[in-house]
Amino acid sequence: VGAATLQQEGASVPNLLHLDTSIRSVGSASRTLSAAYAAEWRQLDPQGGYRYRDLAIAPIPHITNSVREYVLSPDGEHPDVSADQRALTTEVIEELHWATTILLGAPMYNYSIPSTLKAWLDRIIVPSYLVELAGDAAPLRGKSVVVVTARGSVYSAGSGKEARDLQEPYLRAIFAAVGIDDVQFVHAEMTMAKDLPFLAEYRPIAEQSMTAAIEEVHRLARQSA
Ligand SMILES: Cc1cc2nc3c(=O)[nH]c(=O)nc-3n(C[C@H](O)[C@H](O)[C@H](O)COP(=O)(O)O)c2cc1C
Repeated sequence: VGAATLQQEGASVPNLLHLDTSIRSVGSASRTLSAAYAAEWRQLDPQGGYRYRDLAIAPIPHITNSVREYVLSPDGEHPDVSADQRALTTEVIEELHWATTILLGAPMYNYSIPSTLKAWLDRIIVPSYLVELAGDAAPLRGKSVVVVTARGSVYSAGSGKEARDLQEPYLRAIFAAVGIDDVQFVHAEMTMAKDLPFLAEYRPIAEQSMTAAIEEVHRLARQSA
């Protein structure tokens, strides 16, 4: 699909770009939640566009200086950037502009986001997208983002571990920088309790958190569709 078609569609109908990043294909809380959101959203708006990208199965390579120069000026000479890298870069940037809602499944890895999600952000965000430079013309303004996270422990208010949650503040900061302030978070916490015997006493907390998260993704999908 060409850029023009994608952008045209983006202007008229809602389009959902769904990204998963959990390294687990089975038993992943973030995949369960993002799938629940996408299913509800698509059911409520069958005319809406939908694209799915699995960054764990097909990661976007870490950015290199040559690729960065290509992203900044695609029309220039970039002999070191392969045709595959050009095509992938064009595809991820086009689908970002096409999307009206971006749905991210993001496990907490070492207090932060998966490196595959960081590699996606590094590939797509350029200075001309920043509100600081582009002001009202910042091209990603007006999009909305839904982030469903899964964490082995608890970081929510009152846990005493709030400061170690470097997912939500980071993602809020980077999306705000490009003019996306409508960012909703849904967290499934204590996810490791169901598998680890030494965490068995926390299973009720885990179950409660997952039940609340499922309800919340359905609510957000209904609100968005
Ligand atoms: C590499 C790695 C790092 C992790 N780091 C953390 C962490 O810093 N804090 C935490 O609470 N859980 C951590 N976990 C546990 C995951 O956040 C938890 O298992 C979560 O449910 C994974 O998401 P998923 O269920 O979608 O696969 C880590 C897991 C992995 C594989």
